[in-house]
Amino acid sequence: MRTSGRSNSYETRWLRPWCRQCLCVATKEMASAVALVQGASRGLGLQFCRSLLQQRPGTHVIATCRDPQSAVELLSLKSANSDRLEIEKIDLAHPEGIQEVAEKVKQNGVKKLDLLINCAGMLHPSGKGETSLRDVTLEGLSATVTTNAFGPLLMAKHFAPLLTKGSGAYGSKSHQKQHSGIIVNVSARVGSISDNIGLGGWYSYRMSKTALNMATKNLSIELARGRSPVVCVSIHPGTVNTDLSRPYHRSVPKDKIFTPEYSAECILGIVDGLTMGDTGKFLAWDGQIIPH
Ligand SMILES: NC(=O)c1ccc[n+]([C@@H]2O[C@H](COP(=O)([O-])OP(=O)(O)OC[C@H]3O[C@@H](n4cnc5c(N)ncnc54)[C@H](OP(=O)(O)O)[C@@H]3O)[C@@H](O)[C@H]2O)c1
Repeated sequence: MRTSGRSNSYETRWLRPWCRQCLCVATKEMASAVALVQGASRGLGLQFCRSLLQQRPGTHVIATCRDPQSAVELLSLKSANSDRLEIEKIDLAHPEGIQEVAEKVKQNGVKKLDLLINCAGMLHPSGKGETSLRDVTLEGLSATVTTNAFGPLLMAKHFAPLLTKGSGAYGSKSHQKQHSGIIVNVSARVGSISDNIGLGGWYSYRMSKTALNMATKNLSIELARGRSPVVCVSIHPGTVNTDLSRPYHRSVPKDKIFTPEYSAECILGIVDGLTMGDTGKFLAWDGQIIPH
């Protein structure tokens, strides 16, 4: 409540406490932090929402997914946290809807964004990565790159104006050059060109994550300019026990498969320590730098 105008709007809203919509707007304005999790229907994205709600009491969470009506677990999280969680529909296969949602959340009273986690991802429309050139199709490549790389970049484009108004609620507080917001693009180690030694395969997925990492790097340069810089990182979550990687778990040692809870905890731990000195980096779940 820094300006008198904002104070007035508070009073108006609290004078009408029976109005659920007004209460929600007031709660949003009082939240010390606002986080948006894109791709929140299940897996790691759903867990980010849970962890933020449980562990960051001052955070208002905006969760997006492509079909809110069928996102049963997200809806039940909403029932338990109706004043702190809102759900919006974003389907990265139809990215023209992203701008509409960005406008809608602003109209709903969101004044800033402290953290954007781009989490949605797909291995391949078939659910299996290509094992050889024979499996490569334009349809598979397009769908995977659209979801894993173009979508997160367009999210950054349309939510950057809110991120530059962030209050640095996430990330390190001790660093001199304070940032406003943070973008986390959930990537994958297989997007590292230098890490692709001898194995190959998974053309669509590997290429999409390499493109995502390049988007992160470009964003880190552009959004570092100006008075309200935004920290932009790509993070590999480890091998996580979700639908995406489950068909491949047989070849991974059991102790190397993380629960979504553990992976989200590690990533949010990294987020807590981020500074502008980290922007553009490609990091693993344990904070190690992954070479591009
Ligand atoms: N699991 C792993 O071992 C692993 C390893 C490295 C990186 N990652 C990365 O981690 C991220 C999360 O994956 P996950 O493991 O949680 O996988 P997951 O359980 O399969 O979840 C994938 C999520 O992406 C959403 N999604 C897919 N296409 C979408 C679209 N067009 N628009 C909007 N949302 C869409 C899904 O929504 P619906 O429910 O609507 O399908 C779902 O919420 C991904 O970026 C993935 O590449 C995962």
